[in-house]
Amino acid sequence: MAKKEDLIAVCDSGVGGISVLRALMDVMPGERFCYYGDSANAPYGIKTSDQVRELTLAMAEYLMPRGIKALVIACNTATAAAITELRCRYPDTIVVGIEPAVKLAADHHPGGNILVMATDVTLRERKLAALMHSFEHTHNLIKLRSPGLVELVEAGKAESEECEAMLRGELEPYIGKVDAVVLGCTHYPFVRPVIRKIMGEGVELVDGSGGTARETLRRLEEAGLLEHGEGSLTMENSAGSREVAELACRLLDAKID
Ligand code: DGL
Repeated sequence: MAKKEDLIAVCDSGVGGISVLRALMDVMPGERFCYYGDSANAPYGIKTSDQVRELTLAMAEYLMPRGIKALVIACNTATAAAITELRCRYPDTIVVGIEPAVKLAADHHPGGNILVMATDVTLRERKLAALMHSFEHTHNLIKLRSPGLVELVEAGKAESEECEAMLRGELEPYIGKVDAVVLGCTHYPFVRPVIRKIMGEGVELVDGSGGTARETLRRLEEAGLLEHGEGSLTMENSAGSREVAELACRLLDAKID
């Protein structure tokens, strides 16, 4: 018999958070997940921080009544803008938010050159500034915005020629000059094959999905809330269209690493 609060809710501005959902389902196959994508309002990354905060709080408010033991913000942008307020609002719920995997890249490449790709909101928020500050004296960290990339992933064009041409233009100056690229937006793992093709095999591409999944597992274990049931997944999207539903299913199975 399922308990009242047994769901793990995972949310994002759209379909990008599915890259995190996959990691969560890998480490906790016996859990009941519900995924909510706000594609009707994507992209979040070009809005004001206040707008992102409002949209993120609205998603949480919508999901909470379903009986949630953990809320995973599978969106670096939403985490940057709203995680503090979410934790204040829901002190009795485990709230985990993804962050750009700067530490992972820095640990793997002592003294290295690291390119940090993220949305405008993530790049200008204090959270990333504080994280980058800890490595500024030991590493060369370069911020890179990629306008239009989230829109291409949302349109199902992650592996299109248009996407490759755009990324080539942005990444060209860094070919052969960086040790790692941080995929600091949950939509970006879906363009990993394209970035790999452009940057070559010698560059490590890192994202925060594994760390977020392990942190969620750790918090649930610590609270004695881990399930070992059959596992299930429901998916919902504010766009409410068949195209987005089909794209979400494709991304759930897509080869990204
Ligand atoms: N997927 C989100 C992130 O991780 C943001 C995408 C958007 O701009 O909506 O930052």
